Amino acid sequence: MKKNDKLARSELSMETEINKCVLCYDAPCKNIYKNIDPSRIIRAIKFDNKKGALTLMNNTILEKNEDCNTKCPLNVNIEYILKNIIKDKNVLNDFNDIDLSTSICGVKLENPFLLSSSIVGSNYEMCKRALESGWAGISVKTISLMQIEESSPRFSTLKICDKKFLGFKNIEQLSEHSVEENIEMIKKLKEEFPNKVIIASIMGRDEDEWKYLTEEVTKANADLIELNFSCPNMKHDGTGSAVGQNPELVEKITRIVKDNTNIPVLAKMTPNITDMCVPALAAKNGGADGISAINTIKCITNVDVDTLVPEPQVNGKSSLGGYSGRAVKPIALRYISEMTTNPKLDNLFYSGMGGIYTWKDAVEFILLGCSSVQLTTSIMEYGYRIIDDLILGLKIYMKEKNYKKVSDFIGLSKLNLIKNEELDKDTIEFPMFNYDRCIGCGRCYLSCMDGGHQAIKFGEDRKPYLNGKKCVGCQLCKLVCPQKAIDIAPKRISKT
Ligand SMILES: Cc1cc2nc3c(=O)[nH]c(=O)nc-3n(C[C@H](O)[C@H](O)[C@H](O)COP(=O)(O)O)c2cc1C
Repeated sequence: MKKNDKLARSELSMETEINKCVLCYDAPCKNIYKNIDPSRIIRAIKFDNKKGALTLMNNTILEKNEDCNTKCPLNVNIEYILKNIIKDKNVLNDFNDIDLSTSICGVKLENPFLLSSSIVGSNYEMCKRALESGWAGISVKTISLMQIEESSPRFSTLKICDKKFLGFKNIEQLSEHSVEENIEMIKKLKEEFPNKVIIASIMGRDEDEWKYLTEEVTKANADLIELNFSCPNMKHDGTGSAVGQNPELVEKITRIVKDNTNIPVLAKMTPNITDMCVPALAAKNGGADGISAINTIKCITNVDVDTLVPEPQVNGKSSLGGYSGRAVKPIALRYISEMTTNPKLDNLFYSGMGGIYTWKDAVEFILLGCSSVQLTTSIMEYGYRIIDDLILGLKIYMKEKNYKKVSDFIGLSKLNLIKNEELDKDTIEFPMFNYDRCIGCGRCYLSCMDGGHQAIKFGEDRKPYLNGKKCVGCQLCKLVCPQKAIDIAPKRISKT
């Protein structure tokens, strides 16, 4: 077996073992070794932070804890995973020169990671635990004067094969707690955590309610106010995303809020609109200091084909709901980039959200112009503990890129975003088959035949062969290959 082949196979077996792990709470495997917590290491790998896993291992020699007889309920081969990580010797662990702090509308954040307004920040006890885990701040669950009643069940996920949480639908509304309870919570959090940032998310039904809520949260010492112009699940007409879709209302309400507070104001945008720049500009004209985006996208995740009812089924019926999680990241990035590259909107602060799970997702939002990011669905799936890998992964990224502070890379990818018609259409990048890795499954052939340009011949030896005259370099073959057996030629070739 060639070296490359061996490497690829061990990478794939690693992946299989890691995929088996379900990231248990208080994982039974954590005491197997005297000097290392395997559950923490595997969590790092699962959150796109293999280098972080290496840093956590720090070249430690594994010492089994002989008195420990707990084991993985799914028989994950933990030793195999750890030994494979140890093989890589390039450990980064000195981050003294890395400054993760950033700011949002002039308010300092110890790192860019915030809880977005939702169930994950809905009471004092939850917020306290989140802040103690390392989150820089919280946009609390939206406060209103409305009587909120929720249904059961209220969530549904988009599942494909064994992936259960590709997208997430909720039909929730706002905070179920009274304004007084929320105000108490904000005051107490600010007293106990003066260096953390508390954003008061609010929603009124009319001008008086917006004014009242603004005054109350300002008195409570919130650091910023976030205007919820974007919840898609509201039962009261003219609230939530109905406001976000109406630029005149956005401008008017933003102005009322700004006139009644001395703290910065973020306007939270709805993606249920064609051009987000229009309400964002209205918010700016009304005096907003920044934009948060995106709230959830109106959706139906699944219809139960037996009961004929869409999900979630609430006593035999359902409704449209808001979509979030992994599936919405591309849409969120689109809206963020359209706003941050619009010259009329470029002096606002941006707090980006939608599908952020890993440090890499967060960096993508920052590279497109956000100075902070917010998360909900990933926390609902995995808990506040994901902050560990967001922070460690970001530190390693910055160290490797030689960025000393977050502002060194905010918005850098905007320069690389041009119009489709301006893209290079004169040269091609050809795929190259790596026969050491190829298992002869023929998936590249099938996709090229039926969804490409019929540029692959499938040999009698069950190996793919490229016809360079027909290949247009679309690289669909590379995307479908289950074995990572298709590389890209190092040089682009001219079409002529
Ligand atoms: C269960 C749930 C409840 C939410 N409640 C609110 C809310 O009260 N106010 C608000 O502004 N956004 C609310 N959101 C939207 C989130 O703050 C966020 O904008 C959206 O979920 C996208 O981020 P994510 O993909 O990280 O979840 C809620 C989202 C979920 C999933």
